[in-house]
Amino acid sequence: ALVNGKEMFDNARAGKYAVGAFNTNNLEWTRAILGAAKETNTPILIQTSMGAAKYMGGYKLCLDLVSDTVDSLEMTTPVVMHLDHGNYEAAKECIEVGYNSVMFDGHDLPFEENLAKTKEIVALAHAKGITVEAEVGSIGGTEDGITGNGELATVEEAKALAATGVDYLACGIGNIHGVYPENWTGLNFDRLQEIAAEVKTPLVLHGGSGIPKEQIMKAISMGVSKVNVNTECQLAFAEATRKYVEAGKDQDVDAKGYDPRYLLKPGTEAIKETVKERIEWFGTPSV
Ligand code: G3H
Ligand code: ZN
Repeated sequence: ALVNGKEMFDNARAGKYAVGAFNTNNLEWTRAILGAAKETNTPILIQTSMGAAKYMGGYKLCLDLVSDTVDSLEMTTPVVMHLDHGNYEAAKECIEVGYNSVMFDGHDLPFEENLAKTKEIVALAHAKGITVEAEVGSIGGTEDGITGNGELATVEEAKALAATGVDYLACGIGNIHGVYPENWTGLNFDRLQEIAAEVKTPLVLHGGSGIPKEQIMKAISMGVSKVNVNTECQLAFAEATRKYVEAGKDQDVDAKGYDPRYLLKPGTEAIKETVKERIEWFGTPSV
């Protein structure tokens, strides 16, 4: 069933585990991500970036696709449909359309404006039972045209944003979107510790692809309750699809290997396996 993220992530913070937040791009991605949650009988968050929603044909279509897939898979576990890295307009639109949860990403605004707009979004969303994620500091690298310089979140700003009543808070702690550079020095656990000591709101770790498992688990033990994963699924899909093509299977006329239902299958399975593996890493308990 589709639900907001309040209970899911409050429980995760209290239980010192995380629930994965996975980005979808199309039907195959949606079925793979939700299928993984169904097979493991665990809660999950599925999200669309603004770019993915534009690619797919709009927020309403994305919501309908997820909602209808939840029904068609006869899922009984909680699923949150969330807007990832939304600007002010996108957050408002998704609240209008009926997403369960939205991220308002104001990292590129002066802090006072980020704070004021987060407050506005929280009021609009909470009036409709929709949960909200905000961002403090910034995530390095670029995701779907959203670029950050990787500025560390400060405790003071994290406290001020948490006081707006946001339901979860993304903190820049040295994490980066996309593939991590060779010379990456790791997550800043000192800063995470300082923030987690003062802020009881569930914390969000963006850029979850490519962070070593030990660092992810340590971050979860310290207060991270939502881990965002996108690139890892894209790499898994691309690799499995490449293998299929390199084996010449798309050219097998007798087997109709060029049929998208066959051509996209290995990639789709690879996404599902990636999501299942992450669910296990994050310690998400079955319901
Ligand atoms: O918002 C989405 C995530 O932060 C994904 O980051 O592509 O590095 O896994 P990633
Ligand atoms: Zn992100």
